[in-house]
Amino acid sequence: MPTTPSPHSPDTPLHTLIIDTDPGADDVIALLFAMAAPEALRIQALTTVAGNVPLAKTSRNARLACEWAGRPEIAVYAGAERPLQRTPIYAANIHGKEGLTGVDVYEPAAPLAEGHAVDYLVRTLRAAPEKSVTLAMLGPQTNLALALEQAPDIVRGLRELVLMAGAHFNGGNITPVAEFNVFADPHAAEAVLKSGVPITLLPLDVTHKILTSEERIARLRGLGNKAGATVADILDAYAPQEMKHYDMPGGPVHDATVTAYLLRPSLFTGKRIHVEVDSREGMGFGQTVADWYGSLHRTPNATWIVDGDAQGFFDLLTEHIARLP
Ligand code: BDR
Ligand code: CA
Repeated sequence: MPTTPSPHSPDTPLHTLIIDTDPGADDVIALLFAMAAPEALRIQALTTVAGNVPLAKTSRNARLACEWAGRPEIAVYAGAERPLQRTPIYAANIHGKEGLTGVDVYEPAAPLAEGHAVDYLVRTLRAAPEKSVTLAMLGPQTNLALALEQAPDIVRGLRELVLMAGAHFNGGNITPVAEFNVFADPHAAEAVLKSGVPITLLPLDVTHKILTSEERIARLRGLGNKAGATVADILDAYAPQEMKHYDMPGGPVHDATVTAYLLRPSLFTGKRIHVEVDSREGMGFGQTVADWYGSLHRTPNATWIVDGDAQGFFDLLTEHIARLP
């Protein structure tokens, strides 16, 4: 079994964190989970990107997550409305046309923060102490790619990037070889993988091993708080679609594995490898070419997570959701 050479020590680290996201059912669960851990994750802001649904809806859903977590003070900056080069794609077939199914969506009380997410990233990372900010990325990586293009010096402020992205052993979920977040903006993923910042990827290889069950959803619902019911309602609506689409016994909660990794990396295993993105038109468009066996003899640029403790994940998620209103 490969092991994860984790930069985190001790096991429960403290991150100064920005979360870049395209909510999205699993994004909202990842956000609630992260906002329930203020002692370990100091969330500076959320930045949103078009992905599962268009930007106005991902930005509204991110603000709803803050409201539901009782954290309306967390700023939400709206970012890129479209990918760098390719035609925009969405995933309303999985997440519904509002980007969230199973719960009522409405205009949250807190407005968007003023300014563009890319400007926020550039300003914040430039002002940050060296290697101090962790960026969790739960959608297409367009915002960071734009920020790196505008201000390559921002890598100095970054400690680590933790991404839900890619697929290798599992195969893709949007084409036979491509995972949605990479396929939605492969040129952005390429730029991020070349950035030189320490990167951890949580691909479908691991997220398709951490699946809901009736019992796991019932435990969340049984917490008795509103957040537990919200997460259970979202999963009850979202999981069956994923199960049907990919013929799996339960639904993955992709983006929430990023939060779990930040909080408890020992739940996961992987190894440092070289990863590239195929951005050429054709069958391989959006594929993460993961050199697991080192055949290319290239310097590793990412930690590729391949396995995780599914029950440990759901225990940690449930324990955190229990803390919310
Ligand atoms: C990823 O794609 C999106 O639909 C999910 O929110 C997740 O980030 C899984 O491939
Ligand atoms: Ca997402």
